[in-house]
Amino acid sequence: MTFKEKYGDFFETLHPDYWEEERFVPAVGPEDAEVMLVGEAPGANEVEEGEPFVGRAGEKMNDVLRDIGADRDELYITNLVKIRPPDNRDPKKEEIEAWAPLLEEEIEAVDPDIILTLGNFASKEMLDTKKGISQIHGRIFSREGRKIMPVYHPAATLYDRSKTPDLEKDLRKALGKEDTGQQKLSDL
Ligand code: URA
Repeated sequence: MTFKEKYGDFFETLHPDYWEEERFVPAVGPEDAEVMLVGEAPGANEVEEGEPFVGRAGEKMNDVLRDIGADRDELYITNLVKIRPPDNRDPKKEEIEAWAPLLEEEIEAVDPDIILTLGNFASKEMLDTKKGISQIHGRIFSREGRKIMPVYHPAATLYDRSKTPDLEKDLRKALGKEDTGQQKLSDL
């Protein structure tokens, strides 16, 4: 069953203003994943490949996951908004609201042990806070009985490399991967 078939009821009710087949990117990952990652919205690379986090931010995320010994294939990876916003603009509030019920359905279906919200958009939306990601990253919050940890968006670490150790530390904590002091491939 495709993602669209699985959540068919949602797609039937989604207002056409928020739908564009050519810009749609479904979630990826096991339906019973223990960890769910929630990004912002797909970009051009994601649309091309039909999968979230496969562009530069995705490569960065993969590097960090590999460095901490985590397996991307075990994670359920989704976005707040599943249509690429035009011209790489930020998702609008009404777009986030239109797509929010689908994310709630995904959370119910996957039933993850922990949800990681990547960056400000996903974190502020899911935690209903105005606090910025630099203030709240790495802390575990409870939302409707579920654990949520905001972490830096991997794209933010591309602009500001000093954020990479924090992203790595937070992912280690969330995924239960201890720091063994081993050299990282990305240091080569
Ligand atoms: N950034 C996101 O937030 N999501 C993606 O899928 C890709 C980049």
